[in-house]
Amino acid sequence: GLPEYVKIVEVGPRDGLQNEKVIVPTDIKIEFINQLSQTGLSVIEVTSFVSSRWVPQMADHTEVMKGIHQHPGVRYPVLTPNLQGFHRAVAAGATEISVFGAASESFSKKNINCSIEESMEKFEEVVKSARHMNIPARGYVSCALGCPYEGGITTQKVTEVSKRLYGMGCYEISLGDTIGVGTPGSMRRMLESVMKEIPSSALAVHCHDTYGQALANILTALQMGINVVDSAVAGLGGCPYAKGASGNVATEDLIYMLHGLGLHTGVNLYKVMEAGDFICKAVNKSTNSKVAQASFKG
Ligand code: HMG
Ligand code: MG
Repeated sequence: GLPEYVKIVEVGPRDGLQNEKVIVPTDIKIEFINQLSQTGLSVIEVTSFVSSRWVPQMADHTEVMKGIHQHPGVRYPVLTPNLQGFHRAVAAGATEISVFGAASESFSKKNINCSIEESMEKFEEVVKSARHMNIPARGYVSCALGCPYEGGITTQKVTEVSKRLYGMGCYEISLGDTIGVGTPGSMRRMLESVMKEIPSSALAVHCHDTYGQALANILTALQMGINVVDSAVAGLGGCPYAKGASGNVATEDLIYMLHGLGLHTGVNLYKVMEAGDFICKAVNKSTNSKVAQASFKG
């Protein structure tokens, strides 16, 4: 059966903005995150402590982290690829972090400039340091349903990388369909494999919607017992190292589906639509959320 409560991890400020060509002013990012903090969302991914030469949009990570109003009861994780990023994140006040690996060698090399094995060694250092400071660490596995460079990825590889991240102490593994090529069929097969090694309570799905399958894939994951789902307001998003991949599943559309299923999220859909309207106007884009297109007159 379906879970009663679904935790939404809002990745709009990070995944949603990282691929925007025009640099979004820092105060707009802060206002966006502050608006999201008022919606009932319990997790908002704020920024990435990566190299500004690689991802210029995230260069203001410290200012954003320091500038937001941290709402009680909301968690504000940030991406940290290595110890350097981790130390900067902690200095900026981060109290939760994510490391991000991949199930594809080619993607790992393009995204973080090292092999999967090298990345795992870096992540072990990061997660170990985080544990010493009581900072929870999440682990991403990109290319869980396909790779922009290699095409198909075996479920064994996804399971192996997930297990490695879980074993080093990541409390939650987010399985990323980075390029949005998965279907309910491939999602089911991948999860069946991963769930042999990791309890469903420690898994999340992170679906991009390139082929229009994201909600169907998420429903499949929910039916298999997963109750943590990543999404981005207005369906923004994409990875700079995954050309042609479109945005994340829209938070508005996800909430509409979950509430329609009678599941609880604790999130106010109208307020999320307002935040989506705010960021779309700020980046001069129209929303990718079908629900916002259909119903929002902001
Ligand atoms: P590198 O060049 O291999 O790093 O980059 P290095 O250790 O060889 O150091 C080279 C230079 O980078 C040095 O500076 C370091 O100080 C600096 P220099 O001495 O030349 O002036 N450096 C850093 N600077 C700032 N922050 C750091 C850092 N580390 C080293 N943390 C690195 C390695 C990982 C930094 C680089 O490849 C990078 O920043 N990549 C960007 C990755 C990224 O942000 N990708 C998008 C997010 S992942 C995603 O979107 C997928 C996800 O959504 C899930 C899904 O959809 O599947 C999560
Ligand atoms: Mg992503």
